[in-house]
Amino acid sequence: MKLGEKIVFIVIAIVVVGFMGRNLWRLNTIQEVDKGIPYYSTASATLERAAMDIYRQQNCKSCHSLWTVRDLMKAVPAPILDGIGSLRSEDWFYQYFSAINPQAILPSRLKREYQMPSYVQLSESERRLLARYMANLKVQDWYLEETRKAEHEILTGQEYRP
Ligand code: HEC
Repeated sequence: MKLGEKIVFIVIAIVVVGFMGRNLWRLNTIQEVDKGIPYYSTASATLERAAMDIYRQQNCKSCHSLWTVRDLMKAVPAPILDGIGSLRSEDWFYQYFSAINPQAILPSRLKREYQMPSYVQLSESERRLLARYMANLKVQDWYLEETRKAEHEILTGQEYRP
């Protein structure tokens, strides 16, 4: 082999080994980052079934997402309810669902028709049930800040600065 050929051969070898090494390293880091789905529920099966019945009847789904892949094309930029029970208390939810004007508790930046409706017309036990269920929708600690940030940005349309 001539010297020139040897050099070309060595350069190619370095590039190939480099690529392989980089891919291997990436594979490892991806596995580290992928900790799975951060949301979980602490609700009993009975509570979940009863609350989700109300959730469906009231069509909360038309504005919110819960337990699904986010629909970025959704018309209403309402907060995502996954993990919401790590941000607020059961009592807060109950007061919020019972308020005649929920925007007095949580201000809105949206047009009236897209805002959170009042659920004062539901029975007290239904509102308590919904509140208890919401309080059981948790997020793992490692995703808490992300969840807070997403909520803040959806609610205010502004960047989150802790
Ligand atoms: C018309 C759309 C719409 C419907 C229907 C709706 N919501 Fe909302 N909801 C919103 C919006 C928008 C907000 C954010 C506050 C605002 O802009 O009024 C919100 C806020 C909330 C919050 C507070 C979120 C936070 O960040 O703390 C909870 C909890 C909630 N909704 C639960 C529900 C439940 C449960 C139902 C069904 C019983 C429901 N919503 C139905 C639009 C809706």
